[in-house]
Amino acid sequence: MSLKSLLGSFKVFLAPMAGVTDYPFRQIARKFGHVIVCSEMIASRAVLEALKNNKVRRRLHFFDATREAPPVSLQLVGYDPYIMAEAAKFNEQLGASIIDINMGCPVKKVVNTEAGAALMKNELLAGKIIEAVAKAVSAPVTVKMRLGWDSKSINASTLAKIAESAGAQGVIVHGRTRAQFYEGKADWLEIRRVKESVSIPVIGNGDILSAADAKERLEASGVNTVMIGRGALGRPWICGEVQRRLDCDATVVSTYNGVVLQHLRLMIEEYGKERGVLMARKHLSWYSREMPGAAHFRNTVNSLRDYDELLRVTEEFFGLHGV
Ligand SMILES: Cc1cc2nc3c(=O)[nH]c(=O)nc-3n(C[C@H](O)[C@H](O)[C@H](O)COP(=O)(O)O)c2cc1C
Repeated sequence: MSLKSLLGSFKVFLAPMAGVTDYPFRQIARKFGHVIVCSEMIASRAVLEALKNNKVRRRLHFFDATREAPPVSLQLVGYDPYIMAEAAKFNEQLGASIIDINMGCPVKKVVNTEAGAALMKNELLAGKIIEAVAKAVSAPVTVKMRLGWDSKSINASTLAKIAESAGAQGVIVHGRTRAQFYEGKADWLEIRRVKESVSIPVIGNGDILSAADAKERLEASGVNTVMIGRGALGRPWICGEVQRRLDCDATVVSTYNGVVLQHLRLMIEEYGKERGVLMARKHLSWYSREMPGAAHFRNTVNSLRDYDELLRVTEEFFGLHGV
């Protein structure tokens, strides 16, 4: 299926976020509406190594189409066209609906290997990777990029054109440069320039925190879909809520009682009690951040290792006994 038909009526995409958008988070986000979700970024080399060692299930816990309804986009990071193509093929077989190539990760460890945002400085290699991946799979391929390496080398429109001619069916543009990391404001004028320079769908990303933000950015930039990242931390309902508001659904539910407990339970199911308790800490901190007593709650949560105790403290803090 083409990206255009896959996107269909989806106006909102949950951004890939390493350490956040795992299976439990994606399930919770989808409870609230019609949203496309994306896996955390996955190193292409790790996929192939796992395949070789036959440890696929354990290593690839990040995605399993047998338990997750489409559409799910799977994001790969890497620098070698052959390895990226092989990893993409494997993930398509596992059921990924979209293969997304990471060309935006700013982290040193990643850019030092010529992957992530470093590919924005190497358009030739970027094109080769996109072409190899697009040839290897029949699922649509997207490229997630930033505006450029820094303010002196803005090249998102050029890279988007390269992506289009190399066979990508869409691009996702985060309106910051690599040099900015997450500082400053996303530049939606530049995102609009990208939209105007290609005919494939463009998904715009950066600083969307509400339905009003999404509506304004969709109209002003002309992008097909918006992607939400940090706005979903502690608010996994935001994508579904924004989509419903854009669909003019006046019946949007704005109480999310109990979501935090559903999320906690899913994490324990996924990772077991011992690891799940540790992994839940950051989410509990995001859920509670605007509530009175959040700092004390966070300190307590960060000192606990016992699941039953964590559950009790969480129920008490959010007033959710018996939910
Ligand atoms: C904790 C965290 C993890 C992230 N991990 C990824 C990732 O794995 N792949 C990726 O392409 N972008 C990643 N990003 C970037 C987001 O997908 C998104 O582009 C960025 O946060 C800007 O959107 P926002 O303003 O809506 O947050 C991450 C961002 C955060 C905050």
